[in-house]
Amino acid sequence: MIKVLFVCLGNICRSPLAEAIFNHKIQALGLSRKFKSDSAGTSDYHIGELPDERTIQCAQRKGLKINHRGRQVNRTDFRDFDYIIAMDESNLTNLESLKEKFNFPEKEVYLMRDFVTGWEGMPVPDPYYGGEEGFDEIYHILDASIESFLRKIKEVHQLYV
Ligand code: 4NP
Repeated sequence: MIKVLFVCLGNICRSPLAEAIFNHKIQALGLSRKFKSDSAGTSDYHIGELPDERTIQCAQRKGLKINHRGRQVNRTDFRDFDYIIAMDESNLTNLESLKEKFNFPEKEVYLMRDFVTGWEGMPVPDPYYGGEEGFDEIYHILDASIESFLRKIKEVHQLYV
């Protein structure tokens, strides 16, 4: 089983949407049994909460199922997940500190847009303080990034579909 964790700040906008897109894609590929995915936030701001209403609306517009409660990244995540993927540089920096603190210095953490050639180093922008259009923007960014991520891991793990 390949385990993938998407991480943002609040775990109510970007990372739950990323998880929903990822699940939709692996289901379409018939690969659901090969993967486990989840999402988490670096902050404790929205623990136990449903995704932001705008995230839910966006997911519904795109025909995605979204079913998540906010939670904070914890020590066992570094042990359990094969791919821990940050949405922006700030999340990445926080994850780098946490892996030292939790004593997983060897664990590699990834930046979501680094999987797309030409998008290296770019953020999935935080849509929280913006309008609804920001959610459609991150949907498109996430869709392309996850498509590239899946292409890469299918190759790495030799999953032929
Ligand atoms: P997310 O967006 O990190 O994509 O879930 C945010 C959600 C909440 C806050 C910031 C960003 N907040 O400050 O509460």
